[in-house]
Amino acid sequence: MHTYRAHQDVSVLGDYLEVPGLGFLAVNAFVIHATQPVVVDTGLGLPDRDFAASLAEVIDPADVRWIWLTHPDRDHTGGLFALLDAAPQARVVTTFVGAGIMSTEHPLPMDRVYLLNPGQSLDAGDRRLTGFRPPLFDNPATVGILDTATGICLSSDCFGAPLPTPELASAHEAAAANPSDLRTAQLLWATVDSPWVHTVDPAKYAASFQPLRDFGPSAIFSTHLPPVTANTAAAFTTLLDAPHADPFTGPDQAALEAMLRNFQPT
Ligand SMILES: [Fe+2]
Ligand SMILES: [Fe+2]
Repeated sequence: MHTYRAHQDVSVLGDYLEVPGLGFLAVNAFVIHATQPVVVDTGLGLPDRDFAASLAEVIDPADVRWIWLTHPDRDHTGGLFALLDAAPQARVVTTFVGAGIMSTEHPLPMDRVYLLNPGQSLDAGDRRLTGFRPPLFDNPATVGILDTATGICLSSDCFGAPLPTPELASAHEAAAANPSDLRTAQLLWATVDSPWVHTVDPAKYAASFQPLRDFGPSAIFSTHLPPVTANTAAAFTTLLDAPHADPFTGPDQAALEAMLRNFQPT
């Protein structure tokens, strides 16, 4: 992981994964430097990752007050329990469904849970962080964040894109990617992560962007894209085309076997 300050009030704990055939997918977690510091998601759970150590480059983990779990997919929960140990004051912000999903593998201590639904706000001391349902999501527990103090949006999986190189997936600005390539990759990710997008009523889908448009974010921090710090409206425009993008079908067994043959030592 590498850490950097992407905004006056936001640090990024950046990571990425190679997705065979698709590219390199950023896997970001964040710290919102509110008076009650908020960690947003906790990264991958791979054995060589140490989320708490990366977090310590940004903030003393003991000072963390809130761990906002945008949804309990495994690329978001890697460091969760180690952080709960390291941050005795911290509570996990999630939904009833999110807590339920966690209970199927590693239950959350209920006295350290704070249930928050889209439309509700968390008091982080110097600001209120409002939950919202991103237009695209892959998990029913998904709740993104609108920070009215700074105008930033944390969008969970929405707006993500697998990028051609590790350098681009680790870039500090999504604009480092070629705009046309970025648009294609965002539409691809939309169909991979939210395959239901092909079944939606396009008008209702377009209307689902309205809360974000009304908010007019100054920056978008997606878990799966470098930060978007300019021209955020272009990101909305791109995703409006997702229902009409080609549906994604992953490699089947024959394709896997062909790939594995290529990996055989000669
Ligand atoms: Fe997800
Ligand atoms: Fe994710």
